[in-house]
Order: sequence, then structure tokens, then C-alpha cells
Amino acid sequence: MRTIALINQKGGVGKTTTAVNLGASLADLGKKVVLIDIDPQGNSSSWMGININELHKSMFNVFQDDLPIKEILHETSIENMWVVPSNVTLAAIERTLANKLENDTILKKSISPLKNQFDYIILDCPPSLGLLTVNALSAVKEVIIPLETKVLALNGLVTLINTVNLVKDTLNPSLEVTGIVACMFDVRTNLSNKVVEKIKEKFHDKLFNSIIRESTQLAECPVSSQPITRYAPDSRGTQDYMDLAREVIEGEKEVARYYEEGEAETIRHSDEESKEADQSDNDEDETDQYSGEVETAAGWQSGEEKSEVGHSPGEGEKEE
Ligand SMILES: Nc1ncnc2c1ncn2[C@@H]1O[C@H](COP(=O)(O)OP(=O)(O)O)[C@@H](O)[C@H]1O
Ligand SMILES: [Mg+2]
Repeated sequence: MRTIALINQKGGVGKTTTAVNLGASLADLGKKVVLIDIDPQGNSSSWMGININELHKSMFNVFQDDLPIKEILHETSIENMWVVPSNVTLAAIERTLANKLENDTILKKSISPLKNQFDYIILDCPPSLGLLTVNALSAVKEVIIPLETKVLALNGLVTLINTVNLVKDTLNPSLEVTGIVACMFDVRTNLSNKVVEKIKEKFHDKLFNSIIRESTQLAECPVSSQPITRYAPDSRGTQDYMDLAREVIEGEKEVARYYEEGEAETIRHSDEESKEADQSDNDEDETDQYSGEVETAAGWQSGEEKSEVGHSPGEGEKEE
């Protein structure tokens, strides 16, 4: 079972759109998918047709009372796809859990009984890096970062990747960023292309080849209570999310090592390398304004380079 959190602390970048439509596309390709909504806005729950104002039990009860997730698995109109809903009650949870012991691993414990019953668990996360997102990062092996390509706001990635690395170092050593999805790609402007080029340059193989173009049908889709694959089966939104789902499935072998306990490595630049990277970035075009910072934080390298990069301090030296 693959466990994937869709994370970006910025709102409106395509997390929910990707959670719902990647999930539905994976289900159409025969995978058994559970979409867990841990955003108190409940957007992916309502998108999948759940009336979030009339929920008796939701993710709130999972966090608050250790309710087993399987008791709130909702069937959807899509074969092979289930949703675990949230609503606004979840907004209070960060405060409620503040003094609870092991409050950052509640989600991890609650999804573990789902293992072997499903192929994919997808977490739609809130636009913050608070306790809910930390729970998500502790619970999964994989992070997918939806990134809007309409602004050059790559600086938010620094904070995001620092948080991922912090959780990896402390709570979840096998956590990895599987990839970045370029969302809301505007085919009419040069800006989207520039952003994509920059991500490719800085993050090497981390950018998914499948790009999610901006589309009216995707924007209209949430109120239809259906994923794009049903609302507009012939649209570019369906095409893009099906392409992404195929690419995610193709990556199964590549990510298998994340699921082997004890195989994880923290991959990052040394300070020296980061400084050099910053230096070489200085004269580039305006797209680059945040990139030195991004690279420092991310420290991602291409496949061949990975094995030569140092392990994080204190980590055991394990050869493959
Ligand atoms: N590819 C796209 N084309 C057009 N509109 C999009 C696209 N992706 C997302 N949107 C719209 O942008 C808004 C924010 O997307 P959403 O997925 O809710 O972001 P997040 O979950 O990160 O806050 C929503 O109104 C959504 O319908
Ligand atoms: Mg959302």
C-alpha cells in the first residue's frame, strides 16, 4: 500500500484538485484508493458528494477519540474509491491535541490497519504546516507537492521542504518527496513555462512529466460532486490527471525502497555545496529570485549523485 500526502502550506495551489482527481484516476486504473481529507474545510469530502454539515463522525473523531478509520470510510460514485471525510470540527483539533502525548503520530496509527486492504492512501492536507500536516507527514512514506505555475513563488518550497526534512529526521526516517506536480499550467503565457523550466532545473527528476493545465472544467468540477473523469471525461483535465496517475503507478518500483524499513537516507547538500549553488544562481534571470534559497533547503540531486551524498548526522551507514 502506498501512502501519499499532498502538501503545500499555501492555499489554492491544487492540493484538493489533485487529491480528488489523481485518486479517481488511480481508481479508474484499477487501484483501490482511500482519500483521507484532513483539511477542516472539507473540500475534497464535499467534492466527492458528502454533506459535510451533517456528518456524525469524521476525522475529528479519529484524532479526538481514536475512532477506527474504517468506521468512517464512505463509498463514492467511483468504483474502487473511498473517502474519509472532515469538516470544520477538525479546526479545533490542533488546540485540543496540544497536550496529548504522541499527538503527532495519531494518524499514522489510525491508517496502519488499512494496510493490505487498499493500494493507495491519499491525504488531502490543510494549507498550513501545523499539527495536522505533521500528522500527515508522520503517517506517509511519500509526499507529492502540488505547485501552482502561475506565480514565481518558489520560496514557499523552502519552508515546506525544511518541514519535510525535520519530520524525516525526527519522526519518520523513510519519508521522501516523490515529486512536484505543476498545477494550473497556463498554456497561453510564458510564465508557466518559465516556472516549469526552473523547477526542472532545480529539482531534477522530482518534477512529474505530467503537467496539469488550467481548465474551466476543472474549476467547475467541484460543485458537480464528481471527479473530472466523470464530469468531463474528454477534457484536458481528465487527460492530465490520467497521465499523472499512470506516471505515479509507473513509479511504483522506484519508490518501493521507501517502503523497506531502514533503507531511508536523508539527501541534502552540505553547506558548502549550497553556498556554491547560491553563488552560481546569482546572475540568472528574474525567475531565479528564490532559487538559491530553494536549493539550499531542498538539496535534491539527480539520481546518480544521490548515492554520493552524505547521510544525515547520526544515521546508520546502510549500503544497498
Ligand atoms: N488545473 C486547474 N484549472 C482550473 N482551476 C483549477 C485547477 N486546479 C485547481 N483549480 C481551482 O483553483 C482553486 C484552488 O484549487 P484547490 O485544489 O482547491 O487548491 P488547494 O486545495 O491547494 O487549496 C479551486 O477553485 C480549484 O477549482
Ligand atoms: Mg484544499
